[in-house]
Amino acid sequence: EMKSLNLKRNERMDVDYIKGILQPTPTCAIWDKIWNFQAKSDDLLISTYPKAGTTWTQEIVDMIQNDGNIEKCKRAPTHLRFPFIEWRISSKDCGLDQANAMPSPRTLKTHLPIQLLPPSFLEKGCKIIYVARNAKDNLVSYYHFQKMNAALPDPGTWKEYFEDFLDGKVCWGSWYDHVKGWWDAKDKYPILYLFYEDMKKHPKCEIRKIMEFMGKNLDEDVLDKIMHHTSFDIMKKNPMANYTTISEEIMDQSVSPFMRKGAVGDWKNHFTVAQNERFDEDYKKKMMNTSLTFCSNL
Ligand code: A3P
Repeated sequence: EMKSLNLKRNERMDVDYIKGILQPTPTCAIWDKIWNFQAKSDDLLISTYPKAGTTWTQEIVDMIQNDGNIEKCKRAPTHLRFPFIEWRISSKDCGLDQANAMPSPRTLKTHLPIQLLPPSFLEKGCKIIYVARNAKDNLVSYYHFQKMNAALPDPGTWKEYFEDFLDGKVCWGSWYDHVKGWWDAKDKYPILYLFYEDMKKHPKCEIRKIMEFMGKNLDEDVLDKIMHHTSFDIMKKNPMANYTTISEEIMDQSVSPFMRKGAVGDWKNHFTVAQNERFDEDYKKKMMNTSLTFCSNL
């Protein structure tokens, strides 16, 4: 049994497939336990494809739960406030154990595609907030994140990673299948489906949607306070939200900060003209069977 991650410099996490979806090997090793996780009906789940705005949504939800009390939201770093159910990089750092030890009501995090979600979440009727981000910015953000995060594989070159992303050969699988799968599920289950781009464009409106979905009612001035506290510039400086409490051996923020740009349209600084054409053509094919649409410019 692993005691700690113990990755040497430049050493990276191994990955394996669970039902066709890549996952870090420590997660694969306890997959049956994850699949059989027992959700409780008052659990709230925040679900996203990696880099779609999870941390941002977590901070908004925590502020709503705590009626805009900033000090309460600074009680611990994000990853300790919200157990990440399938995350396991060592026996000490296991989202499942963390979730099981947490008193209810719990707010949990997952990046699993809908078909890999432990069935008890849907059986128990848990409320789920899903956040989706346009594929181009999501790809760019994920690339930078894998460069700085030793708990995930080395992304290789931008050119290589671009192809891996299109092929769904990245951890948590295909972005296309992920956003479509959760989109289809939203009509059958209590899922609030949100978009990163909407949150950027009209944050207060999206914060209010989340509040209503959670069954809370907060005054206008509290909503303004939440909007301010969860803005990119404030969160970037908040050590309880910017992942700077994670050791440099795992997350090297000098390679790329966790709070990197927080923008819509940064893909334009990375995609070549040829890549953009190839991407758009491939995107049309993969997204022709859905009513789901995105905007990738503001
Ligand atoms: P970039 O890499 O494009 O900057 P996740 O939390 O799912 O890992 O997503 C991380 C992405 O969300 C990063 O995107 C990060 O900068 C962005 N992000 C985090 N907090 C944000 C905020 N308050 N407003 C806008 N974007 C935010």
